[in-house]
Amino acid sequence: MPVAAETNKLWTRRRAVVTGAAGFLGSHLVEALVAEGARVAAVDNLSAGTAANLEAVRDDIDWVEWDIAGDSPAPAALGEAEVVFHLAALANPAACRQDPRRAWRVNVEGTRRVLEACRVGSRVVFLSGALTYGEPLALPMDELHPQQARDPYSLTKIAGESLGWLEAAARGLRLTVVRNFSTYGPRQVGDYVVPSLIRQGLDTGRLRVRNRQPTRDFTYVADTAAALVEVAAGDALSGEVVNLGSGAETSIGELADQVAALLGGLPVEDLREPVTGSLRQRCRNSKLCQATGWRPRVNLHDGLARTIAWHERQAALAAAPAAKGFRESPTATTGGAR
Ligand SMILES: NC(=O)c1ccc[n+]([C@@H]2O[C@H](COP(=O)([O-])OP(=O)(O)OC[C@H]3O[C@@H](n4cnc5c(N)ncnc54)[C@H](O)[C@@H]3O)[C@@H](O)[C@H]2O)c1
Repeated sequence: MPVAAETNKLWTRRRAVVTGAAGFLGSHLVEALVAEGARVAAVDNLSAGTAANLEAVRDDIDWVEWDIAGDSPAPAALGEAEVVFHLAALANPAACRQDPRRAWRVNVEGTRRVLEACRVGSRVVFLSGALTYGEPLALPMDELHPQQARDPYSLTKIAGESLGWLEAAARGLRLTVVRNFSTYGPRQVGDYVVPSLIRQGLDTGRLRVRNRQPTRDFTYVADTAAALVEVAAGDALSGEVVNLGSGAETSIGELADQVAALLGGLPVEDLREPVTGSLRQRCRNSKLCQATGWRPRVNLHDGLARTIAWHERQAALAAAPAAKGFRESPTATTGGAR
C-alpha cells in the first residue's frame, strides 16, 4: 500500500497535470504535489479560479491557461503527464442550475477533451461528488449507493464519470473516480455554507442559518488534497470509484455554533426554513482509508480556525489599496449548496 513515506519517492520529478488548478481545491492540490517534488502543469481558464490562489507556488509550476470547453487545441502537458487530476468544472451547483448548457459544455464536453488528450496508459483522477448520490437511502453512504441526478450539476458529474469509464476502456487510462463530499478551507469563496457563515459573522456580528438540522460531512482542504495525492500515488484504486470524506456528520447548527464561538461568541439564529437538498450526508470512507492509509488529520475546530484566519487576512488585504491588482474572476462568488 502506498503510505506517505513511499509517496515521497514516487512523486519526485513525476509529471502531473492539475486541471482547475487555480480553483479552491486545485490550488491546494498543486501545492501538495509541488511539496512532494512533482513537476506540475497547472491548467485553468481563470473563469472561477484566480492567479492569486497559485501565488505561493508560482515559480515552481508550469502555468497553462486553457479553456477545456473551448476550441484551442489541448496543451502538450496533458499528453506528457504521467498523472492527470481533472478538477476543472463549473463546480457550483447554483451556477449549473442557472446555465445548464454551460454546465454540460464544461463538465461533460470539456471532460471529454481532457480525457482524449491524456496519454495512453496514464493515471487519471476525476473529481466527482457526493451530490451524484441524490437523497441518501442509507447512511453512511458507500460507493455502491445508487446515483440519481437531481440537478444539472449532478447530472453532468454522472455523465463525466460514464465518459471517463468509456475513455479509460478505449485508451487504457488508469482512471479513479473520486466522489468528494464537502471540502472547506482557505480560498473557498461564494455562498457555500462555510465561507457564507464566516463572512456573515465577520460582516454582521451574528449568524443566521436557514435551518440547523441538515448534516454534512466536512473535510479540511489540506486533508482532501493529501487524499488525492495518495489516490494517484499507486494503482490500488485505479479502475475504482472511491469516496472522499471525513466520515463525520456535522449539523449546520453545530457548524454555525463552532464558527460563532471562534469569532468570539456571536449569537446564532435558526430561521427554521424548509430544508432544501439532502437532510443528512455522511461518507463511508473505509475504501479510501484501507487502500491508501489516508486519515483526516485536521479536526473541524482547527480547520475552521484556519479558514477564519484566511478570511480575516483577505478582508485586511481588500482594505489595503496596495494589495489590489490580482487578476480576479467575475464569477468567483456565485452560490452553491456545499
Ligand atoms: N469543493 C468541494 O467540496 C467539492 C465537492 C465535490 C466535488 N468537487 C469537485 O472538485 C472540483 C474542484 O472544485 P472546487 O470546489 O475547487 O471548485 P472551483 O470552482 O474553485 O474550481 C474549479 C476550477 O475550474 C476552472 N474552470 C472552470 N471552467 C473551466 C474551463 N472551461 N476550462 C478550464 N478551467 C475551468 C475554474 O476557473 C476553477 O479554477 C470540481 O470538479 C468539483 O465539482 C468539489
